[in-house]
Amino acid sequence: MAKRIAILTGGGDCPGLNPAIRGVVLKAAKLGYECVGIQEGWKGMILADAKPLGCDDVREIVGKGGTILGTSRTNPYKKEGGVPAVLETFKKLNLHALVALGGEDTLGVAAKLFKEHKANVIGVPKTMDNDLNATDYTFGFDTSVTIAVDAAERLVDTGRSHRRVMVLEVMGRHAGWVSLYTAIAAGADYYALPERPVDIADMCAKVKAAHAKKKVALVVASEAVDIPGEKKDEKLDEFGHMILKDRGVGERLAKIIETETKLETRHAVIGHIQRGGAPTLFDRILGTRVGVKAAELVHEGKFGHMVALKGDAVVPVSLEAATAQLKTVTKEWLKFADDLL
Ligand code: F6P
Repeated sequence: MAKRIAILTGGGDCPGLNPAIRGVVLKAAKLGYECVGIQEGWKGMILADAKPLGCDDVREIVGKGGTILGTSRTNPYKKEGGVPAVLETFKKLNLHALVALGGEDTLGVAAKLFKEHKANVIGVPKTMDNDLNATDYTFGFDTSVTIAVDAAERLVDTGRSHRRVMVLEVMGRHAGWVSLYTAIAAGADYYALPERPVDIADMCAKVKAAHAKKKVALVVASEAVDIPGEKKDEKLDEFGHMILKDRGVGERLAKIIETETKLETRHAVIGHIQRGGAPTLFDRILGTRVGVKAAELVHEGKFGHMVALKGDAVVPVSLEAATAQLKTVTKEWLKFADDLL
């Protein structure tokens, strides 16, 4: 009987998950394994909710957004009896290994299961925020920034017609990579990210100067920025992260800009649009590569590892090291972007 690999996707979805699932399944089949798809992340491992996942199920998903397995933000360590249930599912479903596709939260659970219970887990990094340490890029990021840049350029078109200032709020919870890359690639006049509080005087000066020259100005802001004098929302999810959807950073910055500069200002929130749709070429290839590598690591018995992109190579790194801290925007990147403003 073929050994069985379970695959789950946890946390926020992002483009590239389906190519990665396909990569695991196709390579696992070549290596003589069969796969099952755990439904809705760690919730499915707690409930032993799995469906067969064969090559025919994944052949046509490389260009599809989302995840065919469903996802959730369930944390087994926060559920009564959650971890024993997950361990029981390994036995009940006769699993040789589990490949967990996720960000810091999903992979943090995988790292703990390996450390505390020697569970046969392999991690595959995904997040549109690109904030996972130990890997150069995560799939999902390229697609979401590509969508955000398109949105920014559309805002500039309408903004210029009306001689307005336009503020685009993008996702990015603890790290501002999405805001930074969008701002650079769309030629924004100011950008704001969680790594440093908004400097209101500087923002308004830059906006005024840009508007005087171009009759339009663009500000890109991450949903999680600190606006001096304003309190952050306290609502937390199961992993202890702030729920940011109601903070209204874009709207608040637009009001401040309009009041301070007297320039007519509008804002737009791109939100979950950034997380849907077909993955870009980069994310299809990266997703496929890390998925295939995960199946190889199962075959080699390299449990407790995550597949990382280092330069042009996909290599195993310890799950514990990969989840120890987040990758936030560095001073060098801030200087690089600031010099363009
Ligand atoms: O997965 C990361 C992320 O996209 C963050 O950028 C964002 O803050 C969060 O997910 C939104 O989560 P949800 O889809 O649960 O509202």
